[in-house]
Amino acid sequence: MSLLRLENVSRSFGRLLALQNLSLEMDEGQLYAVIGPNGAGKTTLFNLISGFFPANSGEIWFDGARITRLAPERRVAAGLVRTFQITEIFPELSVFENIRIGVEAQMGCSSKPWPSQSLARQINRRVEEILTVTDLVLRADRTVSVLTHGDQRVVEVAIALSRRPKLLLLDEPTAGMGRAETDHMVNLIRSLHEKQKLSILFIEHDMDVVFGIADRISVLHYGRVLAAGTPKEIAADPRVQAAYLGEAA
Ligand SMILES: Nc1ncnc2c1ncn2[C@@H]1O[C@H](COP(=O)(O)OP(=O)(O)O)[C@@H](O)[C@H]1O
Ligand SMILES: [Mg+2]
Repeated sequence: MSLLRLENVSRSFGRLLALQNLSLEMDEGQLYAVIGPNGAGKTTLFNLISGFFPANSGEIWFDGARITRLAPERRVAAGLVRTFQITEIFPELSVFENIRIGVEAQMGCSSKPWPSQSLARQINRRVEEILTVTDLVLRADRTVSVLTHGDQRVVEVAIALSRRPKLLLLDEPTAGMGRAETDHMVNLIRSLHEKQKLSILFIEHDMDVVFGIADRISVLHYGRVLAAGTPKEIAADPRVQAAYLGEAA
């Protein structure tokens, strides 16, 4: 059974058809990349998957359930988690506090001002786990607003993890990063996929990153899927080369 399935999904903005009859199928455990030129509809695709706005037509299935018209927060609760949307980052709070808020929300205890000692210990343990997995232990007490751009993006991923995703959506996780920061993010994504067995769907413009880590790729072009397949198949696809990879090189 596929983890995520979109069937003939369309979305327009006024007269602009941002996505036309788009279908996409992703299995559990995949590290799936969505690529395509600016304006191809990649972010719109994520907005439809996360429920930020509805599709005009088509159906979306996640983890065996139809979610086409499900509210965004219910999708998060079902394990469909996108970095920026649910993640309220609190820049003036520490990294630890930001993750703690996410963990409490996930555990449904945000409304309890004084959690019991055992619950507080459970929450702290989970925050420590996430800090370790994201390599943020040494930054736990830093205020988020003073961190570098790269570290802030890692904190966003950490907060997303606090919601215990079954599928993590990352929209251009390396955007605006230099080489070292990009490498750090790539290593994090790879380790979340390989060690934590997390399914990840990500939009990425850096082809070295895409072809370095993805096990499956969909290429979007003018709101349609131009091609979908393994990195090898995509790199060898003449339509992709003509429309996209050729001009990017
Ligand atoms: N909320 C919106 N309102 C109006 N037009 C939008 C909106 N979101 C996206 N678009 C338009 O839809 C097209 C696809 O945009 P987008 O999904 O952001 O592309 P990508 O992420 O691939 O660069 C673009 O022409 C963009 O201007
Ligand atoms: Mg975009």
